Amino acid sequence: MTRLIDGCGRRIDHLRLSVTSACNLRCLYCRPSGEDGRVVGPAPLTDGQRVECVRFLHGAFGLRQVRLTGGEPLLHRTLVPLVAAIRNAAPSLDIALTTNAVRLAPTAARLRAAGLDRLNISLDSLDPNRYHRLTGGSLSSVLKGIDGALEAGFPPPKVNMVVLRGLNDDEVVPMAEWGIRREIEIRYLEAMPIGPAATVNRQRFVAADEVRKALAARFEMTPLLRGWGSTAMRFRIQGDAGDGCIGFIAPISRPFCAQCRRIRVTADGRLYPCLLDPRSADLAPIWQHGRFCARTAHQIVTEAVAEKSPSGGGTQSTVMVRLGG
Ligand code: 5AD
Ligand code: SF4
Repeated sequence: MTRLIDGCGRRIDHLRLSVTSACNLRCLYCRPSGEDGRVVGPAPLTDGQRVECVRFLHGAFGLRQVRLTGGEPLLHRTLVPLVAAIRNAAPSLDIALTTNAVRLAPTAARLRAAGLDRLNISLDSLDPNRYHRLTGGSLSSVLKGIDGALEAGFPPPKVNMVVLRGLNDDEVVPMAEWGIRREIEIRYLEAMPIGPAATVNRQRFVAADEVRKALAARFEMTPLLRGWGSTAMRFRIQGDAGDGCIGFIAPISRPFCAQCRRIRVTADGRLYPCLLDPRSADLAPIWQHGRFCARTAHQIVTEAVAEKSPSGGGTQSTVMVRLGG
């Protein structure tokens, strides 16, 4: 086993694997017009091919984590068997899922049984009308999804909130209190100016520091040690309602590129070494006459990773639903 090291010396051991670019929501900061990022052209990877990629990255390069993303990964009809096949191919791999949780309740138990380790859930407001305005979805289904995940035996999911000025920035404290009551870690995300929502996200941008100050007025906050490659700055918080943990993900005001350990594969089989760099490599040549070719895989992956951008930098016009966040 060799390590996968990029041109800047960063070890790459996390894969974000998008399984569909379709989504059942239209979050204002992602695809306000409902654009779903599906492209005409390359065929999607099959689940079998996805498993082969993960098995290869795990076996050849010691991949540690795969995070299944979308679009909305729960729209992928064969998500449960895909999780089971990945678990079977790489028993020690950490398998996580990022979801809007709208459809989680009916699937949570089967996902857990298939070997899924962890969940990250997007939730931008606790007010049903506002949630609907921001995402087009129903808050109650998300809350049922969170309950379903806990009942299925998952560890408490992390909940991502993209903070937007004038839209939900007055909810940062109530979200933290809700998180404390439910033993859920809220993570406040800075909106990134990506794809069709770039302008809105610039206009409504709220820096993590401002959120931290709003929280510090209500809670005692103690910084927690940041793990290597972790994107979140975490704090222990203590208030009237008890204590808990929160995190800030601040890609704009405090970029974490120097510790980046990820690559991304889109649903249609393109390898993106960096979220903020439009360059990508087609994985299709890895399958020759229908068979996985490890030599070609090795070459495509190492060449793409060698060119991984040191610090994003470029402008990403590709919509987030394709890149998987
Ligand atoms: N900026 C920040 N976060 C975003 N997400 C989607 N688009 C953006 C953006 N432009 C978040 C979602 C989800 C995760 C996958 O990425 O809310 O939590
Ligand atoms: Fe919202 Fe995620 Fe769907 Fe984008 S992909 S619209 S952020 S749920």
